[in-house]
Amino acid sequence: MTKVKGIILAGGDGTRLKPMTDLISKQLLPVYNKPMIFYPLSVLIQANIKEILIITKPGEVENFKRIIGDGKKWGIRIDYLSQSKPKGIADALIIADDWLKNSRSLLILGDNLFFGPNLKNLLIKVLKVKDRSTIFAYRVSDPERYGVVSFDKGMNVKSIIEKPKRTKSDWAVTGLYSYDKNAPSIAKNLKPSKRGELEITDLNKEYLKRNKLDLELLGEGFAWLDTGTPDSLLEASNFVKILETRQGILIGDPSKK
Ligand code: G1P
Repeated sequence: MTKVKGIILAGGDGTRLKPMTDLISKQLLPVYNKPMIFYPLSVLIQANIKEILIITKPGEVENFKRIIGDGKKWGIRIDYLSQSKPKGIADALIIADDWLKNSRSLLILGDNLFFGPNLKNLLIKVLKVKDRSTIFAYRVSDPERYGVVSFDKGMNVKSIIEKPKRTKSDWAVTGLYSYDKNAPSIAKNLKPSKRGELEITDLNKEYLKRNKLDLELLGEGFAWLDTGTPDSLLEASNFVKILETRQGILIGDPSKK
């Protein structure tokens, strides 16, 4: 298998969580008993990824390092870079370009919480496929807030639309993406959207155009949680607490392989 490196995008201003995010990045706030970023970090570790880049907002690297360190305690290597402005998710691949050194990548958003009994096996299966890229979709009741993917019975992606006003599909594209080695060069050719960002949806659409995009559905038994508002943060904490204390399932633990 060619090497796959992990990228966690933990930039952004966390505006909806102010004033808590005035002092500290959103991704370091607690979700029940761990910093938020431990959850996406442990997803990458479960996918057997050994080299991870954490992209923070400027001036925050030291805080992340203090909590996470260089990864040695978990048998991995963690590097850090910062994103000067919130220029979009696809910008993470441009920032990571030199660090990736032509490797494939598994990109995850630092505030996305994924739970699912088969997530590890699913990721290992997906990462076995070279020269293609994969998006992961989750069924939601408010698709207009997300990138939305439509697909046929054979699981072929038909379209991806960023925050559509009306849509026939209710499958949201989650903040987890597996890319082949070409992602940074494709990202460099994207034009900023109306909101001034390099949209990950535009990058995914380019893979679709090239016939190189696969789709995995995070269906029954999976949970994909948002942590962007005080309410959703509290709900995520409660969710983790129930799983950990009632069912004895340990999640977001980077020492668990
Ligand atoms: C971003 C992406 C969107 C995706 C979502 C997942 O949206 O643009 O395609 O569905 O993350 O959380 P944003 O949070 O930047 O509005």
